[in-house]
Amino acid sequence: MKNYIFFFLKIFFITNILILPSKSDPIFDLGKDVFLNKAVCSSCHTLADAGSNAQIGPNLNEIRPDMMRVITTVTNGIGVMPAYEGQLTADEIEAVSYYVSIAATK
Ligand code: HEC
Repeated sequence: MKNYIFFFLKIFFITNILILPSKSDPIFDLGKDVFLNKAVCSSCHTLADAGSNAQIGPNLNEIRPDMMRVITTVTNGIGVMPAYEGQLTADEIEAVSYYVSIAATK
């Protein structure tokens, strides 16, 4: 009986460690949604986590921008990339930047 309980405790802790950290980050999830659906960054950029392989802008898995660099770029635009200030809320810009800075290193 004791072993039985330990077995379930172990399963519980292992699933928490493996699954919850990647599933319980609402800002990461919002950022991914902005990347794919709202701002459609995926139409110009390759990012493995988002499953996109567009070639118009730089490959984000290669340049691995930090969060501040993405915020600046998305807010102001750069070259042919449009500025998103006014189209995305400040929260959405922050979320997509958070998402890209983490997802690019995966
Ligand atoms: C219309 C195509 C297009 C879309 C849509 C687009 N980008 Fe870009 N992006 C580019 C191009 C082109 C560049 C390179 C610009 C240059 O260096 O002149 C770039 C550059 C960047 C850079 C690197 C900036 C630097 O410091 O060199 C980042 C980060 C980036 N984009 C993130 C995003 C994110 C996040 C989104 C969605 C909110 C997005 N892009 C949407 C085309 C696009």
